[in-house]
Amino acid sequence: MNDLETVASLLAKAGRVTVLTGAGVSAESGIPTFRGLGGLWNGRDPMSLATPQAFAANPELVWEFYNWRRELVTQAEPNPGHRALAEFSRRLTSLTLVTQNVDRLHQRAGSRDVIELHGNLFEVRCTGCSRTFDRSGETLPPLPRCHDCGQLLRPGVVWFGESLPPAMWEAAETAVRRAPLLLVIGTSAVVYPAAGLVGTAQNGGGAVIEINLEPTPISATVDIALQGKAAEILPILADLL
Ligand code: OAD
Repeated sequence: MNDLETVASLLAKAGRVTVLTGAGVSAESGIPTFRGLGGLWNGRDPMSLATPQAFAANPELVWEFYNWRRELVTQAEPNPGHRALAEFSRRLTSLTLVTQNVDRLHQRAGSRDVIELHGNLFEVRCTGCSRTFDRSGETLPPLPRCHDCGQLLRPGVVWFGESLPPAMWEAAETAVRRAPLLLVIGTSAVVYPAAGLVGTAQNGGGAVIEINLEPTPISATVDIALQGKAAEILPILADLL
């Protein structure tokens, strides 16, 4: 058996599988990742674009960044990797998809009940009345305001220094604890608490399989590390299931 066949048979045998995805899964859709050459944080300072302090200091700059990303993602299409993961959930007994991505491409590829740890680009939240609104499919003005109370809206994403939505985090941890296998795809595994889900799986005796273009801090600790593009490896695995 080669590594891909081994992984497919482990997935099939596991019964319950949890998947954790990161920006690498959307790379083949033309969405830049965050770290590394060509990444969003290469030449941009996350502290001046993705923190509550940055938004308080310069909401226009922050909204410019997020409106650009909304546009980029709206024009992008799910890739074969996203579609293969949607296929996984049809072929496996139980699959929970946890993502750090805010692009909604998993859902557009057909995955259901995705746990969005970092929120998404399409729901916005009012800084005054705290209500959330789905503003997908719209070009927002440079400083969008709440239709109800008139206060400034903010992107419905999790910024550095903010807590993850508690219900999302609890659901992700529970899914990882319950599953004998965690598949980690396209994440540098350096941003916590999301990256901590790998340790949660390992501490509970679960197996961890990684798919990434290059080695990451977790590669040496996982059971199997497959090196390559998610959009190429995942469809092969889906066919083997
Ligand atoms: P990163 O940009 O940190 O990491 C992307 C990972 O994907 C890297 O390890 C790449 O090697 C890998 N990669 C790139 N192309 C790939 C491909 N085609 N197939 C497979 N792997 C590929 O993105 P994340 O780990 O998702 O948070 O970043 C985590 C969080 O940090 C993000 O959610 C975001 C960011 O700052 C916030 O903004 C709060």
